[in-house]
Amino acid sequence: MLLKQGAEAKIYKSEYLGCPCIVKERFVKKYRHPELDSHLTKERIKAECRAIVRCKAAGIRTPTLYGVDLAKRCIYMEYIENAKTLKECISNAVNNTEHADGNKDFIGPILERIGVFIGRMHSSNIIHGDLTTSNILLVGDLRSEDLQIIFIDFGLSSADESAEDKGVDLYVLERAIISAHTLKENVFNVILKAYAKEYKKGSSEVLRKLDEVRSRGRKRLMVG
Ligand SMILES: Nc1ncnc2c1ncn2[C@@H]1O[C@H](COP(=O)(O)OP(=O)(O)OP(=O)(O)O)[C@@H](O)[C@H]1O
Ligand SMILES: [Mg+2]
Repeated sequence: MLLKQGAEAKIYKSEYLGCPCIVKERFVKKYRHPELDSHLTKERIKAECRAIVRCKAAGIRTPTLYGVDLAKRCIYMEYIENAKTLKECISNAVNNTEHADGNKDFIGPILERIGVFIGRMHSSNIIHGDLTTSNILLVGDLRSEDLQIIFIDFGLSSADESAEDKGVDLYVLERAIISAHTLKENVFNVILKAYAKEYKKGSSEVLRKLDEVRSRGRKRLMVG
């Protein structure tokens, strides 16, 4: 059953040895040179598998990897039941409240936990590569400490120490949270504070880079 048709991949729901699974099939892009296309696709599939395994080792929840078929351009992974994306959760919270700030207080603690996980990810030198609010899944009661936070979509990830790439990860998430949801700029500080606490020493260079990336972003906006 086709669940989603993304820009790069089709997401199917299926079964793997009796367990509900997701099949993520990266389709052929006709406008790309066939060899380049096949090379890029394989790199993304491999990147996704590697990151899933590295996250597991670092204590970050992702769908469990069930299998890969490079020839079929497919990756098979655990289907996360009853998941909502962070994007859906924030927009529901923002749209369902009459008063600008009423009833959104549960978002803070979620963002704080997300900051801890990203700090852990980056201190393990896992760069996500596409850290948007559609790529963070939530399962359970949004107001409970038992809420599960699951990271997905690691096709653009890499294993790298680069403070610059880590800064870009944070910038992408910051833009996703602030611009798409018209939340106050300072909500992102909750993430950064938890991030720095988890990542400790390494975080200061990343936060410096984040500032650089932000000002480059602003300049780009001014140029048009
Ligand atoms: N393991 C999973 N369990 C449940 N839902 C999933 C799972 N993986 C992906 N999804 C759903 O499918 C959507 C797209 O998946 P993913 O981000 O991996 O692919 P994508 O190619 O980036 O697609 P998009 O361009 O829409 O982001 C997710 O936002 C999520 O709603
Ligand atoms: Mg995605």
